[in-house]
Amino acid sequence: MRTWEELERDCGRCMRCGLCRTRHNVVFGVGPRDADVMFVGEGPGEQEDLRGEPFVGPAGMLLDDMLSIIDLGRHNCYIANIVKCRPPHNRDPQEQEQEACIDYLRDQMALVKPKIIVCLGRIAAMKLIKPDFRITREHGAWTEKGGVWFTAMYHPSALLRDVSKRPETFEDLLSLREKLRELQGKL
Ligand code: URA
Repeated sequence: MRTWEELERDCGRCMRCGLCRTRHNVVFGVGPRDADVMFVGEGPGEQEDLRGEPFVGPAGMLLDDMLSIIDLGRHNCYIANIVKCRPPHNRDPQEQEQEACIDYLRDQMALVKPKIIVCLGRIAAMKLIKPDFRITREHGAWTEKGGVWFTAMYHPSALLRDVSKRPETFEDLLSLREKLRELQGKL
């Protein structure tokens, strides 16, 4: 497996799919490389593309608020996306773009070795949990795979569009806090 340095270098010059033609920056991922919790979104938006960092636009501000509800600062979590370059006009990343990019995320997951991976939204959940994942029905559910616990929440962008989903996300956040305490041996 690649080292962090090799991975970041390969990712930074990647031309495996057409998204490389329109990106300003590759959005590799941020956070402690030994974090217990990893959040995975779908792909960079405009602000993320310009700054080279995930979740720094409006959705990212809401993600910060969500994390603060359970006393989990973003500086404690590793944050990445399924695709590392911005899909034009924030469209969903296409299957072939996701496939071209997923190795980078898999290496990040293997290097960080988180206890928990939280998929933000349908696209990440379908890629990492199961292809037929239904976010409206299955958000907040837990699945263990290879020693890592996976769950999914509504994407913060969906929560910005539809505030009626927020109470359910509050429950999912409490469940995340509980799972983390359990896995950290604090319960
Ligand atoms: N939406 C995502 O899925 N990822 C980001 O980094 C920003 C917005």
